Amino acid sequence: MNAQMDNRPDDNDRRTATVKTIQQLKGKRPIVAITAYDTAIARLVDPYVDWILVGDSVGNNQLGFSDTVPVTLDMMVHHTAAVSRADPKSLVVADVPFGLAYRNLDVLLDGCCRLVQEGGARAVKIEVGSDAVIDKIRVLVEAGIPVVGHIGLLPQTVQVLGGYRSFGKHEQGRMRLLDWARKLEQVGCFMVLGEMVAPGAALAITEALEVPFIGIGSGSGCDGQILVINDVLGLNERVPGFVKRYGDLAGEIRKAVNSYAEDVRSGRFPEPLRERS
Ligand code: KIV
Repeated sequence: MNAQMDNRPDDNDRRTATVKTIQQLKGKRPIVAITAYDTAIARLVDPYVDWILVGDSVGNNQLGFSDTVPVTLDMMVHHTAAVSRADPKSLVVADVPFGLAYRNLDVLLDGCCRLVQEGGARAVKIEVGSDAVIDKIRVLVEAGIPVVGHIGLLPQTVQVLGGYRSFGKHEQGRMRLLDWARKLEQVGCFMVLGEMVAPGAALAITEALEVPFIGIGSGSGCDGQILVINDVLGLNERVPGFVKRYGDLAGEIRKAVNSYAEDVRSGRFPEPLRERS
């Protein structure tokens, strides 16, 4: 890549991001986040983003599941540790997997401690579907675990929802999302993420909160954006309508492996051994 195309923020002495430095970006410039699930990709994306989500979308993007529901805490710890081993300057946030936020507080706290202590996450993200979960988040924050509250479409509830759809299009839904976002800020979330939140509602939430509101499929009125790495790179055949593909890695991989296979079959690779004199 030539220097002109490389749009890394101009910060040669870039410091390791913290919850505070991410929060301070609100109102200054858009915050950029992306998912990563392993060390190699985390190393590549790190210079360009503010935070990296080790999403439970690892399930449907890397592990062959049809959604995020089968992803376990052990899987999340494993992938979070792999991303942390890249030693990124971006803030590593790990997803709390299916069901855990609805178990009792001790179980949730133990799970979050594993993501932080074994996985090396510096924050966790929780899909918030009830007031009871919001109350537990207060305790996690008191325990020293920074939390991102995830509202709008909650992919972990896909089996109840029967599919993916947007939220907050009508007044009642908009007010509900706004109310939850405010409560999440009150209990100490340092950031709120809204998935498939109608753009009007997303803008209202962004304006109402002091902490950053990050959108995915929620329009341009948010404090920042996050996308799934496989969608961005063009690894997935089908992507949600809001996604913009920035590469065609699937095509590049097919081309490269096809060339390699042809070279092996035709004897072009490896080159014939030469005896050393
Ligand atoms: O797991 C994930 O990738 C997510 C994003 C959709 C934000 O939660």
